[in-house]
Amino acid sequence: MILRRRASIDRLDQYLAQKDYASALGAITEELKRKPENFNLLLRQAEILGLAGDRDRAVEVYRDLARFFARQGFYARALAVISKLERLDPGQSEATRELAETIAAQQEEERAAQARRRRATATPALEKVEPREPPPEPEPSSERERNASRLFTQFPAGALEELLASTNVRLFSEGETVCREGDSGHSMFLLVDGSVDVTTADQAGRPLPLATLSEGEFFGEVALLKGRPRTATVSARSQATVLEITRDQIDALALRFPEVQRVLERFCQARAHATVEAMVARMRGDRG
Ligand code: CMP
Repeated sequence: MILRRRASIDRLDQYLAQKDYASALGAITEELKRKPENFNLLLRQAEILGLAGDRDRAVEVYRDLARFFARQGFYARALAVISKLERLDPGQSEATRELAETIAAQQEEERAAQARRRRATATPALEKVEPREPPPEPEPSSERERNASRLFTQFPAGALEELLASTNVRLFSEGETVCREGDSGHSMFLLVDGSVDVTTADQAGRPLPLATLSEGEFFGEVALLKGRPRTATVSARSQATVLEITRDQIDALALRFPEVQRVLERFCQARAHATVEAMVARMRGDRG
């Protein structure tokens, strides 16, 4: 009896090149037993099902995945899945709408929770005549940046739906440059999976690390908004999946939903400020 060797994930590319989809799917299934929530594996599984001609099953896997991520609050991941689904089976407006609705419902929940927190911290004004603003909630700055940069939760639901239907998913391997300081830029990026390093050059031309961005955060908005060359180099710290949103897409969105522009402007300013601070700190360090 000939024993068939168990398919290995290390040979995935080889199986795909040979169009041996059964082994490719077998290898992914084995690997998923070890890493059941690995985003890239799940996405590839659906992709290979599509390649193998099992379109219905692939659509089903994509839709389940998008729902799963959206419910967990991983909107960028859900969006990446829908964008793949759209390519496999154009006209998935139902899936897009479902995602936009999930996000809108979570935004609503978040607003209600904030209002509850405010009410709980406001003291009853028995002896006070003047009404007071509730005190701002203490939040560490890194946490604030992280929460605020969850781009999707800040967009109106209609804007989301439009964006969801038209973005491009790109994969970068570790160390690869997504955008380079000084280059002209015509798109911005939303990090779906993995992390990226943001670096600029200091006065002496040495690399100056500015930030590490992770899943859900975005970058590349400065060149789009200001029409300037890229202000920093962004490279993949680990394998990274990003959604590329072009200037035309953002312009079309901003025209109809002015809040989109305001969110991006806020980030632009905060980042320019952080870069100046990092430069000044480096110069002080050099002198001291
Ligand atoms: P852009 O200049 O188009 O391309 C590089 C991007 O890096 C920039 O847009 C911002 O999105 C991002 N960036 C620049 N400076 C910082 C910073 N100090 N912190 C975080 N991100 C930054």
